[in-house]
This record gives sequence, structure tokens and C-alpha cells, in this order.
Amino acid sequence: MPSFKLLLLAGDGIGPEVMAEVKRLLGFYAKNGIADFQSEEGLVGGACYDAHKVAITDATMAKAHAADAVIFGAVGGPKWDKVPFEARPEAGLLRLRKDLGLFANIRPAIVYPALADASSLKREVVEGLDIVILRELTGGVYFGEPKTITDLGNGQKRAVDTQVYDTYEIERIARIAFELARQRRNKVTSMEKRNVMKTGVLWHEVVEGLQAREYKDVQLEHMLADAGGMQLVRWPKQFDVIVTDNLFGDMLSDVAAMLTGSLGMLPSASLGELDAKTKRCKAMYEPVHGSAPDIAGKGMANPIAMLASFGMALRYSFNMGKEADRLDAAIASALGKGLRTADIKSEGTKLVSTSEMGEAVVGELEKL
Ligand code: IPM
Ligand code: MG
Repeated sequence: MPSFKLLLLAGDGIGPEVMAEVKRLLGFYAKNGIADFQSEEGLVGGACYDAHKVAITDATMAKAHAADAVIFGAVGGPKWDKVPFEARPEAGLLRLRKDLGLFANIRPAIVYPALADASSLKREVVEGLDIVILRELTGGVYFGEPKTITDLGNGQKRAVDTQVYDTYEIERIARIAFELARQRRNKVTSMEKRNVMKTGVLWHEVVEGLQAREYKDVQLEHMLADAGGMQLVRWPKQFDVIVTDNLFGDMLSDVAAMLTGSLGMLPSASLGELDAKTKRCKAMYEPVHGSAPDIAGKGMANPIAMLASFGMALRYSFNMGKEADRLDAAIASALGKGLRTADIKSEGTKLVSTSEMGEAVVGELEKL
């Protein structure tokens, strides 16, 4: 049986609860001789701050570099509102993304048949939805320098964030978008704000140029990011792959998440450059949702985004596409049986806890 090295970083809030369901899944794969996932665990976010006064330690970073994949829960919470900016929980996540070079963040938004009524949008708008938001993850305003607050000395302060993109950063994410589209419905929508931002002008130019040179067979359209947000809620099925920068991608993927009924449903994969020698890439898998401190520790969290994120690991890191399909089918069938966590509960369905949902998914896997 194949063997892989995982680093599990559960983080804060509901992170540990949803991570427990991944561990249940790992147990299933080991027991059935499908794969042996050797997992180490580490602290990240507020949990790490409490222990070490930083959001992630160098030792944990070294483990992340050495792992075949990092599985990440969630970070943050009001408890750490006052910690220094450099040590805030989110800094741990951002360091992982940056230091591992995970520039490509794949966020699929899929509406499971059983959940078409859980969305706040009409059934016909979301039924059968299957789109991907491809978010640039290591550049833009998240990391651009200068990033400062300066005291102007006259009772005023000035805050600066810097939005910066080089050609290569845009080109490599656009390339992933075109490659993904070729395996899907062959359409890419690129979103930026070239009517206001220089980075938008360059973004548009680079995406356009790459398509003309290498991807003429893929349909490309451009949308201003604000109009794109509007189109996402008006008629999301017009999209196939949306490619956009770090900040717009953050916002648009939260919008896309709600199309599926709940933030608790959206998985993501963050991938780095392919290593020419090993044919592998650094990778981290995390749900799009946050740490949800308001429901943490109550067994209410929806583990599906976390489990589906592990499904993406099976697909992109471990070449186990069939197992990934099986996991997706198991999730769909648990939902089909009417099991719902609180976030997706509707009339006539059965409310279950985090662990009951995890158990049900693994139970369905046993049957498939
Ligand atoms: C996300 C989150 C993060 C982000 C936060 C936790 C820093 O919102 O992954 O979408 O802004 O990227
Ligand atoms: Mg976000």
C-alpha cells in the first residue's frame, strides 16, 4: 500500500473538530489497505501563539517543507485580537502559503443535488453548479511592500498596502487556469479592475497574451471584478474557471461558497510549482471557511469542506483520483440520506453533529 507523509495543522476554533474527521478518514484508508498516511501534527495560529508567541514555529515550517502535503484546519478568533500584527493567527497561514510557494489556490464551488435548496439563491440559479475559482495566493496586496502605518505627527496616521504583480506571477496562474479549463468546459473568465488599477492593466495584458500564444483553443473572457461579483450571484452557471488575484479571489470565493449553501461546504487546494525532477508539487489543503469561534467546541461544525479538501489532496497530491471521486460520492450520499449539520439544515432533514456527519461519510465510503 502506498505511503505518504502528512502534516496536520488543525489550528483554532472549529479547526480541531473538523480535523478529527480527517483522522477518521485516514483510519479508513489504513484499515482497508488503500493508503498509509503517516501524519504528524503541529500548532498554528492562535494555538501556536499561546504556546510560542508566534503564529507558526520554524520547526513546524520545516515539517511542512518535508511533508507530501499539509492539511490545514482554520485559524483566528477574538481571543487573539490584541496580539502584535506579525504574530496574529492569520500570519501563520500566510507564511505557509508564501514559504511553500503555494501560488495556485483552487476553490471549486459545487452544488450537491441534495443541497440545491440550502442556498439563499433560487434553486434554478444554483442547481448543478460546478465552477472553479482559481485565486493567485502568494502575491498582490497580501504580501506587497511597503505595508505600513505611519504616524504623520499631526494627529493623523497613514496606512499603506501595496498591490504588486510581476508578469511571471500572472502568467503562471493564468497557465493553471487554461490547463484546468481544458479538463473541464474549456472556458476561462479573468477578473481584475483594469479601469482603476495598474495591476489590473498588466493582469489583463498578460492573460490575453498567454492565451493568444498557447491556449487559442480555450475560450477567454475578461470581466471587471465588481461586475464579476454581481454576475456570480446573478447567473453563476455562465462560468467555468474564474482566475483572479489574491484579494479579489478571497472575496469572490466567499461569494461562491454561499452559492453552494454554506461556507462549510467549500474545499480548497493550494499548489506550488511542479518540481521537474520529482513531478510533485508542494501542496496544502484547507477548507475555505474560517475558525468560526462562535460555534467552536459545540460539535456543530460542518466537516464536509475539510473532508472534501482532503479529497483534493487525494486527487492532486497522491494521484488517487478514483478515491477522490469515491469520497465525493460518499459525501453526496450522506447528504442524500438527509443528514445535515446546522449550517445546511432545512425542513424535513436530520440534524447531525460534526462527528456524526464524519461517521456517516466514512460509513458511505465503506459501502461504495
Ligand atoms: C481565506 C481566508 C484567509 C485569507 C485569512 C484567514 C487570512 O480568508 O483563506 O480565504 O484572507 O486568505
Ligand atoms: Mg477568505
